Amino acid sequence: MSGDSERPSQPPTDPPPSDGKDRSERPSDFPQDRPSEWPAGIASIRPSALQSEAQKAGDGEEPVSRLPAGSRTRPLLVVERLSKVFPVHQGLFGSPQFLHAVEDVSFYLRRSETLGIVGESGSGKSTLARAVLRLTEPTFGRVLFDDRDITRMAPAELRPLRRRMQIIFQDPSAALNPRMTVRELVGEGLSIFRMAKDAAELDALIEKSLGLVGLGPETMGRFPHELSGGMKQRVGIARALALKPELLVCDEPLSALDVSVQAQIMNLLVRLQRDLGLSLLFISHDLRVIAHTSHRVAVMFLGRFVEMGPTTKVAQKRYHPYTRALFDAVPKMGPDARTRLPIVTDLAADTPSAIDPPKGCVYAMRCPSAEKGKCDVETPLLAEVVPGSHHRVACWHPEV
Ligand SMILES: Nc1ncnc2c1ncn2[C@@H]1O[C@H](COP(=O)(O)OP(=O)(O)O)[C@@H](O)[C@H]1O
Ligand code: SF4
Ligand SMILES: [Mg+2]
Repeated sequence: MSGDSERPSQPPTDPPPSDGKDRSERPSDFPQDRPSEWPAGIASIRPSALQSEAQKAGDGEEPVSRLPAGSRTRPLLVVERLSKVFPVHQGLFGSPQFLHAVEDVSFYLRRSETLGIVGESGSGKSTLARAVLRLTEPTFGRVLFDDRDITRMAPAELRPLRRRMQIIFQDPSAALNPRMTVRELVGEGLSIFRMAKDAAELDALIEKSLGLVGLGPETMGRFPHELSGGMKQRVGIARALALKPELLVCDEPLSALDVSVQAQIMNLLVRLQRDLGLSLLFISHDLRVIAHTSHRVAVMFLGRFVEMGPTTKVAQKRYHPYTRALFDAVPKMGPDARTRLPIVTDLAADTPSAIDPPKGCVYAMRCPSAEKGKCDVETPLLAEVVPGSHHRVACWHPEV
């Protein structure tokens, strides 16, 4: 495999602000409500409390939440040209084959900000999350957490930072050890990081974490099989929050839950993000969940970000044909839309293989606007359509 120097040059994504100005004091031009362009199912979800916070504190270009003094201009997370390639099997005549799960992805995440990542199954969302947290080793690129490059950090140096970066998994039943009680599950990390001086303080911290997610102390002695799916996911969230993380990666946290509890857990995460000032990477295949939870949205297809921008801007105008297809696929729904969060992706079967993916645009096989000799040859990179808009698209022929 070649090194970074041999890869096509990627223009910088939205540059982290570095001018030292307090952007929260700039006037905001954000609309007071969800734009009417959202499909009915999205518009019917109540505007996120996050969004109104962003409206108050936005810089007029991108939603920026109110940030603690001294940290307003420093992003918590910067991801630069990250790729993850899995060697899969030998092809004909023993030639190795590589699956490009994540390809040249760059973004940043501010403190107290939520970036939603949406894409269909197999587009690389979980691999990206795992590579960012170094739960899997990135093949190329680097990740800066709080200005420190964690990509090549030795395990001993990385360990204390792990407390500050937590993940919530899709399936709480699989994520929780069935032989441990809720007390042990939530207290495990607290003990590892020696966050309590004695058993009494440990219990108090466990109880406090459970309280944050709406669970009472009576749940402490229970085992996962004695809990409902929603309660298990609350325990998973409490387990992460107990460590007082700054970055919380939510990898499809609603997908394995009954539809009746999905909205409850989604609203809980929105509230916790706002109240605790967390930075969230919120991964979902459901555009409406992303619309409700995220300040900015990144649309992923076959390992690449194909469109990225402030949620309100993407709601008003979709430039990439794939983003447009995602929006068109959201079912027009009735008043009970909040309790039904359907899968809106997996739009078509003709997705090219991530194993030795085709040259040019990853979406060319599906795209009605594909230009032969251009789109199937040259890879479009994320670029602003309107300079200064922070709304970026990877397409040679964005619909303007
Ligand atoms: N450990 C692995 N080895 C080989 N291929 C993998 C591995 N993990 C994920 N993949 C592949 O990487 C691609 C992206 O997977 P994933 O990140 O799970 O996507 P998503 O979360 O968007 O559904 C898929 O083609 C998947 O089969
Ligand atoms: S670059 Fe070409 S193939 Fe790709 S999305 Fe744009 S128009 Fe379609
Ligand atoms: Mg996944």
